[in-house]
Amino acid sequence: MTINTFESPEKAAEAFAADLARWIEEEEEYFVALSGGSTPQLLFRHLAEKFRERIDWQKVHLFWGDERCVPPDHEESNYGTARRLLLDRIDIPEENIHRVHGEALPEKEALRYSLEIRQNLPFENDLPSFDLVLLGLGEDGHTASIFPDQMELLDADGICAVATHPESGQKRITLVGKVINNARKVAFLATGKGKAEKVRQILHKKEGWEKLPAAHILPSQGDLYWYLDREAAGRN
Ligand code: 6PG
Repeated sequence: MTINTFESPEKAAEAFAADLARWIEEEEEYFVALSGGSTPQLLFRHLAEKFRERIDWQKVHLFWGDERCVPPDHEESNYGTARRLLLDRIDIPEENIHRVHGEALPEKEALRYSLEIRQNLPFENDLPSFDLVLLGLGEDGHTASIFPDQMELLDADGICAVATHPESGQKRITLVGKVINNARKVAFLATGKGKAEKVRQILHKKEGWEKLPAAHILPSQGDLYWYLDREAAGRN
C-alpha cells in the first residue's frame, strides 16, 4: 500500500494525474473505472487542461466504478460530470467511453453493464480485471456505492450490483468488491477534513474499521494507493 499525502487537493489531483499518465504510457490499452462524487472534479479539470496531449486517450477505455440511477444529463450523473469536465475536452473515441445507462431500470442495467465489462476487459482469476479502479471515500466509509448497510456487496457474485443510498434511497449501479479487488491498481483519492476520521480508522485499523466498506478494498494481487491532502490525512 502506497500512501501519498499532499499540501492541497490540487496537488493530490496533480500527482495522481502524473502517475496515471505514466501507467497508461506503459500499456497498449488501459481500462479504468472512474469514481464519482465531487472529489474527482479537480482531477478531471486538470487532466483536460494539462494532459490533453500528454496521454494517448485513443488507448484508454473509461468505465465507472459506480453511477447514480439518473439520466446522463442529470446534475448528479457521474458520467455527466466527467463528460462536462473531461470527456468533451480530450480526444477520446466515443466507443472508448462506457457509461452506465443511469436512465434504465436498475436491475436490468446492472446485468447489461456487467456484460459490457465482461465483453471488453481482460480476465484474471475468472473475473474482469481493470488496470485501475479510482475510488472516492464517503464520510460514512463507503466507496463506489458499497455502503455500510450493504456490506454483502463486497463479496457478491457477478460484476455489478444495484445499491441503494442509505439516506436518499437513490438507486445506484456499483462494481462489487470482488471486481474492485481484482484490479491491477486501486487508487483512493480522498481530500478534505470530512474524510480524516474515516481515513485514520481505515489506515490505522482503529476501532470499528471492519464496518467500513472502504477498509475491505485490498487488491488480491494488485497495488493499492491512497492520494490524500493534508486535511484528509488529519494533519492540520
Ligand atoms: C459517488 C461515488 C462515491 C464517492 C464518495 C465521495 O457516486 O458518489 O463514487 O463513492 O466517491 O461518496 O464523494 P465526494 O467525492 O463527493 O466526497
